[in-house]
Amino acid sequence: MTQTPAERAAELRAQINYHNYRYFVLNDPVISDPEYDALLAELEAIEAEHPELITPDSPTQRAGSDLQPEFRKVTHPALIGSLAKAFDADEIRAWRERISKLLPPGLRLDYTLEPKLDGLSVVLTYENGLLTLAATRGDGLVGDDVTPNVRTIPTVPLRLPVMPDGPRPPSRLVVRGEAFIPLSAFEQLNARQRELGEPPFINPRNAASGALKNKDPRVTAARPLRVFVYGIVAASSDDHVPPTQWEQLQYLKALGFLEPYTEYYDDLEALIAAIPAWQARRATLDYEIDGLVIKINNLALWDALGVIGNKNPRAAIAYKFPAEEGTTRLIDVKFSIGRTGVLKPTAVVEPVFVGGTTIRNVTLHNFDWIAEKDIRLGDVVIVRRAGDVIPYIEGPVPEERDGSERPIQPPETCPFSGDPVVRPEGMVDYFCSNPYCPERVFRSLEFFVSRGALDIEGLGTRTVKQLMDEGLIHDEADIFTLRAEDLLKLEGFAEKKVENLLAGIEEAKHRPLARLITALGIEGVGEIMAGTLADEFGSIDALAAASVDDLLQIEGVGPNIAQAIHDWFRDEFHQRLIAKLRAAGVRLEKEPAPTGQGSTALAGLTFVITGTLPTLKREEAKALIQLHGGKVTDSVSKKTDYLLAGEAAGSKLDKAQQLGIPIIDEEGLRRMIAAGTGAG
Ligand code: IVH
Repeated sequence: MTQTPAERAAELRAQINYHNYRYFVLNDPVISDPEYDALLAELEAIEAEHPELITPDSPTQRAGSDLQPEFRKVTHPALIGSLAKAFDADEIRAWRERISKLLPPGLRLDYTLEPKLDGLSVVLTYENGLLTLAATRGDGLVGDDVTPNVRTIPTVPLRLPVMPDGPRPPSRLVVRGEAFIPLSAFEQLNARQRELGEPPFINPRNAASGALKNKDPRVTAARPLRVFVYGIVAASSDDHVPPTQWEQLQYLKALGFLEPYTEYYDDLEALIAAIPAWQARRATLDYEIDGLVIKINNLALWDALGVIGNKNPRAAIAYKFPAEEGTTRLIDVKFSIGRTGVLKPTAVVEPVFVGGTTIRNVTLHNFDWIAEKDIRLGDVVIVRRAGDVIPYIEGPVPEERDGSERPIQPPETCPFSGDPVVRPEGMVDYFCSNPYCPERVFRSLEFFVSRGALDIEGLGTRTVKQLMDEGLIHDEADIFTLRAEDLLKLEGFAEKKVENLLAGIEEAKHRPLARLITALGIEGVGEIMAGTLADEFGSIDALAAASVDDLLQIEGVGPNIAQAIHDWFRDEFHQRLIAKLRAAGVRLEKEPAPTGQGSTALAGLTFVITGTLPTLKREEAKALIQLHGGKVTDSVSKKTDYLLAGEAAGSKLDKAQQLGIPIIDEEGLRRMIAAGTGAG
């Protein structure tokens, strides 16, 4: 039996629409992409030959035609309202109190709880099951006709019901939903933008907005828009539509719309108790939600309760999550100098409350980053602070520019020393060219005396600053030649304080070599690396004499670190510093071997240490492991036997977990030593 082209086209349309629904709405495709493409190609071929067979619900009409949307104004059949907001549980209870007073006493209320999707409202009209109009919300009364654009969105059914056994829709049905771009698709979209050398989109909502209102539906088609539908705005009375919100959600789903995950409650306290779980779920969703919507389930009550200020129905309220994002103005750029002399730009913004704190300063990383984001002085910027992550600038809002914005450039001279700022070849950062720059010296001194380094008691950041300002110290070594008579002249330095400080300094002259190496602040040399270097070389002089090749023999030392160490000791300023430390009596050799009973309990085992341990400093933990025959290295690899992890362990912990390496805490280490079972 041969089919007519019209019959075959109708069959293909039904099949393709069905597979499209399986793929995009149910997320459960039953045919492969090539099979789907073949069906579409066949339909396109028939339609090319018989244009009269093209119907408005043909999937070929999704591709995005070159017909421009007219953006003509359309009047909505009912108010497309928005929602009043609540920011905590008490405000939700207060809302219920307010509306209860307007309703017959004793009336039991029940509710739906829905995600508040962070996208753009769309209003879809179906006539006899066919999508005939799609509009933006506009001012709530009149919106823009964006039908050709919305047709390209694969989760918007072109004909209802999508499944032949679905409910028959009313002859006229107007629904409301939210257009958005999934987060995963947004990442891909931006990756593609970067490949094309185009600026990335600021956030999914922005990209969605630009796509929905684009003058070229082909652009819309190329953006991964989706639409969730969460309510019926109007329906002809010739067919039964369910009288409650909860049933309407199920009904819309049966018709073939994409529905967000929603919940039903007959008790407001139970609903409130569910909010934390939603907050946790939020991080796992592939779309952004900025809160929850609580709706009175009985839709007859919506009319009874009416609308506030011509806009917000009383029967629903939006619970807003604490904002993780806000806009503010970038009013100034401050520069700081780090201990390596690196120049760090920081944005000063008009104070903005985001993620539970007021933000005034935000890092600008480096000038490449600033240029890539095209952030300018005076820009309105989007600031984000999600969870405990430090706040960052997501990007500027170029639409807000008035032409007065200025590019952000590195200063030509260091704001602290006045010396030229330079950018070494191959580096993203700029540096102050003066090794004696007071700010740089201050930062390296601050590090030198800090807990992870020489840990000089009585010498904190403020004292360091004071001593520098008084001209008593100019570099690290000067600390060791401070004299009581000079200190006593300073403000706030009484006899006792001076005594304590000098005792602390005296003690610091004999810190373990590893500490001293750490304190020097060589790029890439942290505590563990410093320990390895101390073990291998045994003295500052031996380390200073090492060639790059010698250094490369050391486990964990790569070419960059080897070069950095080598260069550090070739620097004249540093050579003078070492000479001064020596002259001041600072011990530059390895300390005598730790006393205590050694064993072979950990022989043959390699450990990596991460995080802060409850009682041992890292270098003490390392000494303990070595004392019992174990080895400590810097980075986790397949050769690592155990990860010794403390508080705030970071990427090393992740890596160890990935590699399936056993993770122990300080207690566990002590147990291993006590048990005395080494592998070797
Ligand atoms: S109900 C009259 N439900 O949030 C009923 N709105 O101001 C009002 N939104 O502009 C809409 N998810 O774009 C409703 N599940 C949801 C929603 C939702 C997101 C948006 C909608 C509206 C804004 C509320």
